[in-house]
Amino acid sequence: MRLAVLKERRGGESRVAATPETVKKFKALGLEVVVESGAGLAAGLTDGAYREAGAEVAPDAAAALSGAGIVLKVRAPLGTGEGEVDELSLIPRGALLIGVLEALGDPQRARTYAELGLDACSMELLPRITRAQSMDVLSSQANLAGYRAVIEAAVAFDKGFPMLMTAAGTIPAANVFIMGAGVAGLQAIATARRLGGRVSATDVRPAAKEEIRSLGASFVGYEDEESQAAQTAGGYAKQLSAEFYRKQAEVVAGHIAKQDVVVTTALVQGRRAPTLVTAEMVASMKPGSVIADIAADAGGNCALTRPGESIVTENGVRILGHRNWPGRIAGAASALYARNLLTFLTTFWDKEAAAPKLPQEDEIVRGVTLTRGGAVVHPQLAPAQAA
Ligand code: NAI
Repeated sequence: MRLAVLKERRGGESRVAATPETVKKFKALGLEVVVESGAGLAAGLTDGAYREAGAEVAPDAAAALSGAGIVLKVRAPLGTGEGEVDELSLIPRGALLIGVLEALGDPQRARTYAELGLDACSMELLPRITRAQSMDVLSSQANLAGYRAVIEAAVAFDKGFPMLMTAAGTIPAANVFIMGAGVAGLQAIATARRLGGRVSATDVRPAAKEEIRSLGASFVGYEDEESQAAQTAGGYAKQLSAEFYRKQAEVVAGHIAKQDVVVTTALVQGRRAPTLVTAEMVASMKPGSVIADIAADAGGNCALTRPGESIVTENGVRILGHRNWPGRIAGAASALYARNLLTFLTTFWDKEAAAPKLPQEDEIVRGVTLTRGGAVVHPQLAPAQAA
């Protein structure tokens, strides 16, 4: 069976879905691996490195996809009219397509996969259960986003993170506030602490408070009966009442005015990111301070964030609103993402047939499968069938 790895063509995507390390492992499973030329370059992986690992390097997408039974992608393949190459039309019928396909926000996407006869697995839908941790692309990428945002904020900040005691005088440690202490936020706390910042953090989920403290940061936040039940069974934050958010903002407002760096990571699944930093809060910050908004892809946690841009406000606050933070650390992000996909495939691998075996009764498989045998089967997209 042939496994194809394509170059990513969506704007600003620098990651790649397989690395020479995972290519070797796929070869060991008995797969033929073909990588489109240049697929790994933006992540520091040359065609030569893939060849050395045993992959065939194909000159273009058409050649890479010819005869493919499995297609690995980071983002959804381009369809008709979406770019210079209609990648979808080149994927053979019956192939297994795996990537972060983001199909829940665009139900037509899954219908197209079904019409083209592709069995599509959308890895961002993986259930957050212990058994799935090593395949969890959201966690692996969020972790690196948290790291990268702190590093970029430190570079954008016009002073230092650690207290610097010099013969010429002392520079105080930076006050760093992390908003949202999930996977990205916890890594942001750890990174800011390692750089020597004075770190505090907030979250709405009760479990997050202990995790914040265990990393050596102080907890700042509003808690009440509502926040005691702020976590879903899946570990995510729930959407809370307007009254709760107002009280949270009151507690946070005074704290933000004293911060040098604010890193925001708060997300509520399936919704626009909550606004945690208002324009008034930004106006209260000192010139030279920095906000790094990891939630920019979901609209941003700061009211002034312009997704995809870095701006400086009238009072001199720099707001980093980059999209795709993991893509800004493409080498590491690709390495972890590629391993997530490798683990997924090896977990559901039929050794004798040397082919994937995806039992629909398995919770992980059911969670990620969008389409199968020409039909949309995901419960959130085809409720009638699921029922
Ligand atoms: P996420 O990316 O959906 O959200 C990031 C953080 O923002 C969360 O901690 C959330 O509580 C917080 N947040 C939402 N609204 C907020 C508000 N108004 N103010 C402050 N913070 C707010 O979440 P992520 O990072 O993907 O995971 C959240 C949790 O899920 C983890 O901490 C863990 O408990 C659980 N998890 C479990 C896994 C497993 O068992 N395999 C894997 C990954 C996560």
